Amino acid sequence: MSISYEGRVAIVTGAGGGLGRAYALELARRGAKVVVNDFGGARDGRGGSSAAAEAVVAEIEAQGGAALADGGNVTDFSQMEALAARARETFGRIDVLINNAGILRDRTFAKMTMDDFRAVVEVHLIGSANATKAVWETMREQGYGRVLMTSSTSGVYGNFGQANYGAAKAGLIGLMNVLHFEGQKYGIHVNAVLPTAATRMTGDMMEEETLAHLSPENVVPAALYLTSEGAPSRTALLAGAGTVARLAIVENQGVYLPEGDRTPEAVAEAFGTLAKLEGFIETQNGLDHVERIVARARDAKRAV
Ligand SMILES: NC(=O)c1ccc[n+]([C@@H]2O[C@H](COP(=O)([O-])OP(=O)(O)OC[C@H]3O[C@@H](n4cnc5c(N)ncnc54)[C@H](O)[C@@H]3O)[C@@H](O)[C@H]2O)c1
Repeated sequence: MSISYEGRVAIVTGAGGGLGRAYALELARRGAKVVVNDFGGARDGRGGSSAAAEAVVAEIEAQGGAALADGGNVTDFSQMEALAARARETFGRIDVLINNAGILRDRTFAKMTMDDFRAVVEVHLIGSANATKAVWETMREQGYGRVLMTSSTSGVYGNFGQANYGAAKAGLIGLMNVLHFEGQKYGIHVNAVLPTAATRMTGDMMEEETLAHLSPENVVPAALYLTSEGAPSRTALLAGAGTVARLAIVENQGVYLPEGDRTPEAVAEAFGTLAKLEGFIETQNGLDHVERIVARARDAKRAV
């Protein structure tokens, strides 16, 4: 089954380089009209120019595709609204949004200023919410949309020195989970990719030999599958170096503390059992969890 983007319009934020550029080029190769957004700042988010976005548009045009450059800053909602309006005016619709723009300001939490914490959350989490909000109504009206969040292993597993980044990237999994439910009725699928790639973001974090396995092109298949017509929804894929894996959030059966024994001491005593990686359940939504624990309490009450 070949995946085509013919007739589709895609917006990729932060597509002036790295992963975003790779997504934009492949989307265009497969027929999408692409809005290449990039604020064009330094790795820490300072500065800005639309030159990076324009260069990628030129590459797309050189390969025979159609694209539009946008120098908007994802942290500014009005600029994201303007981007969405330009996409609609130029190409008529918006089918795909890849929230990819990102910056880093790594430091231990002890040394990190709150300005650096806020700036990173602002670009990754609020920026993704801004861009998504700007296209959401159009996607609802169309009855079709594919939104991709870019999370990170730093958010779901942790990484020393990235409190700001990890918090923002975990937040994007939460945003995906909720928008999945709200978009369902309107044909909007919301997914996440957790990439590992050699880009300017990671170029000084890993050894040469490791970086050689991590071409951004290796992440493109997962990202394009997750934004395709046949994409699942609320699916998070880890992708890099040729491996694609699904990330799941699971809970175990837990222990049931009988009434009269619901104390911190009882939790401490049960912790050995509680912490075991056994009998995991992938819960479908927040209410499912509530129903499960209340049903267990009901059963326990009936049994006495
Ligand atoms: N490279 C990796 O291994 C890796 C791992 C996990 C997650 N990610 C995520 O993938 C995404 C792409 O990162 P990359 O590795 O290609 O890095 P990159 O620095 O090459 O790309 C990020 C792009 O976002 C743009 N950008 C930054 N702030 C912006 C803003 N406010 N508005 C619009 N554009 C802005 C930058 O100009 C840059 O071109 C990021 O969200 C990053 O956190 C990357």
